[in-house]
Amino acid sequence: MNLLAEKRILLGVSGGIAAYKSAELVRRLRAAGAMVRVVMTSAATGFVSARTFQALSGEIVRCGWSDDQSGMDHIELARWAERILIAPASADTLARLAQGRADDLLAAICLASRAPLLVAPAMNQAMWRHAATRDNVQRLLERGVQVCGPDTGEQACGDVGPGRMLEPQILQQVLSDSFANGRLAGLKVVVTAGPTREAVDPVRFLGNRSSGKMGYAVARAAREAGASVALVSGPVALEAPTGIQRVMVESAQEMLEAVLARIEGCDIFIATAAVADYRPVAPEPQKIKKQASDWSLQLEPVPDILAMVAALEKRPWCVGFAAETEHLEQNARKKRMHKGVEMIAANQVGGELGFESDNNELLLVWEGGERQLPVADKNLLADQLVEQVADLYADQNTAHEPLENHAKHSA
Ligand code: PMT
Repeated sequence: MNLLAEKRILLGVSGGIAAYKSAELVRRLRAAGAMVRVVMTSAATGFVSARTFQALSGEIVRCGWSDDQSGMDHIELARWAERILIAPASADTLARLAQGRADDLLAAICLASRAPLLVAPAMNQAMWRHAATRDNVQRLLERGVQVCGPDTGEQACGDVGPGRMLEPQILQQVLSDSFANGRLAGLKVVVTAGPTREAVDPVRFLGNRSSGKMGYAVARAAREAGASVALVSGPVALEAPTGIQRVMVESAQEMLEAVLARIEGCDIFIATAAVADYRPVAPEPQKIKKQASDWSLQLEPVPDILAMVAALEKRPWCVGFAAETEHLEQNARKKRMHKGVEMIAANQVGGELGFESDNNELLLVWEGGERQLPVADKNLLADQLVEQVADLYADQNTAHEPLENHAKHSA
């Protein structure tokens, strides 16, 4: 699901060199299906022409009171907007918003609107650091305005420091996140997906049939439930789901390292990947030549990523998958205990479901409960799985968590 589809975004553009980046933002928002109307301050028109925004948004661009045709346009726009984002927000614009001024069209719309207001400051680093700006920003934050950025780095004036406007793709993500009100909003989720490849020599590996479809569907579902998601993926032919940080790995060892690098602060870990259990003890540096006689390969166990994460001192809530060819429920329950995880999602593999196919069937088991998810598309199953995880996570955290962690999850 695209959270920006058909959303009504009012983009305010104030005076600053970063205004050119807002043109790209409009293009991106439109491509994501949002409706965008642009209001420029008169200072902004000195940097980018209204025609540019008009062409990109497909809507009339307003640049001041003279464009308020009916005298009520500002009220109509204030009511129309589901989100107002001012990007770039100059120091002057922040000051005017903090004061609640209504003497230009953009400021008046902000005052008249009930839509959440986001600002993406862009200014010289000394202006950003000035006590007056700090006070204005503080006042806006206290009123619930979302201040996005600024970024730090080299500035158009040659200074280096905080004051660069966030890049359009980040602002698009921030806007999209602002519409996520799902069950996992504010939580960090790490998902593993796909197969691993354990090198035998430079051209051969031990692998498995995982396509990544189940894991990618889980990552997407968690994202759409409002979580910030990192997806650690073995080699697959799938596109990264929108709004997800994807890291590609090959071997189980690489997957372990990528997971551990992202596990701090992680609330929920979902191990969907089909990770190797064994790997060659000593992969050959050169391609192994064909021989007349038998040939054997010595294998060693691979670290168990899921069990290692579940054993961490500060551990996330853990969901493992179990691919079974027999005794599904019995093996799933054993695996849950053995790996020390909160939930196992078990699937029967070897027939038409499980590996590679678009459909699957899952049995979810947890302490004191289970839920059968009948055969369905992996995307639907992933939504149901995430919903169940959200229910159990909420119950267990309410019951056991120390108070300071509640603050973190609701922040
Ligand atoms: O990718 P698809 O084609 O869509 O197929 C989906 C799937 C069948 C791969 C998926 O639904 C699934 O069952 N994934 C888990 C497969 C598996 O490796 O199961 P297992 O029973 O061997 O492992 C149990 C759990 O331990 C899994 O969560 C696995 O990620 C984890 N594990 C296993 C070994 C290891 N070294 N480290 C691990 O973390």
